[in-house]
Amino acid sequence: MEYKLKNGQTVIIRKPVVDDAEAVVNIISAADKETNFLARNPGEFCITADEEKVFISNILNDSDTDWFVAEYDGKIVGHCSVGLVRKYERYRHRADVTFVILKKYWGLGIGRILMQQCIDWCRDKNVTQIELGVISDNKCAISLYESFGFKTIGTVPKAMKYQDNTFADEKLMMLEL
Ligand SMILES: CC(C)(COP(=O)(O)OP(=O)(O)OC[C@H]1O[C@@H](n2cnc3c(N)ncnc32)[C@H](O)[C@@H]1OP(=O)(O)O)[C@@H](O)C(=O)NCCC(=O)NCCS
Repeated sequence: MEYKLKNGQTVIIRKPVVDDAEAVVNIISAADKETNFLARNPGEFCITADEEKVFISNILNDSDTDWFVAEYDGKIVGHCSVGLVRKYERYRHRADVTFVILKKYWGLGIGRILMQQCIDWCRDKNVTQIELGVISDNKCAISLYESFGFKTIGTVPKAMKYQDNTFADEKLMMLEL
């Protein structure tokens, strides 16, 4: 589906296909180098395009999780995933989400569109709470989440340790639908 961005351009939000595997691997690796807010050190993501193809096809066949890519100007520039935290009946009201957009494309409105996509998926699956973890000084992401009504429910102190031996806390946030 096509959406208008703040700069007047359009973005296509769609599910990935196996042929996107190389592009997806490339943006994950690139994003790890661009920001400290993600889980991995640069170079730590070492999935091959062939492995990613399998991963994509597994997700496409799993009704408890979904994945959306953002295509801008013919190129995949971001993606998000949403899925049940666990498959057991007692947990099926809870989902978590993750987002990554290449730095060059931040601030255009893509994150907001992807979040709405995840929320719509959750409502469709009768999920009643969405949870996520975000590094405490990731102001941009926190402001996006708060604008959707996410509330901070706790903090994991020193959740990540960087290569220079500094730490970052992680805020746990939740949106009740
Ligand atoms: C967090 C991220 C997904 C946001 O995506 P985005 O496309 O840049 O966000 P949007 O353009 O849709 O902006 C959404 C909101 O974020 C906030 N925001 C965007 N840019 C901001 C900035 N420079 N400073 C503060 N808040 C900002 C605003 O609340 C904005 O709302 P508005 O549209 O009403 O102004 C993106 O910055 C990203 O991929 N960052 C690196 C990876 C990451 O941090 N992922 C999240 C891990 S929890």
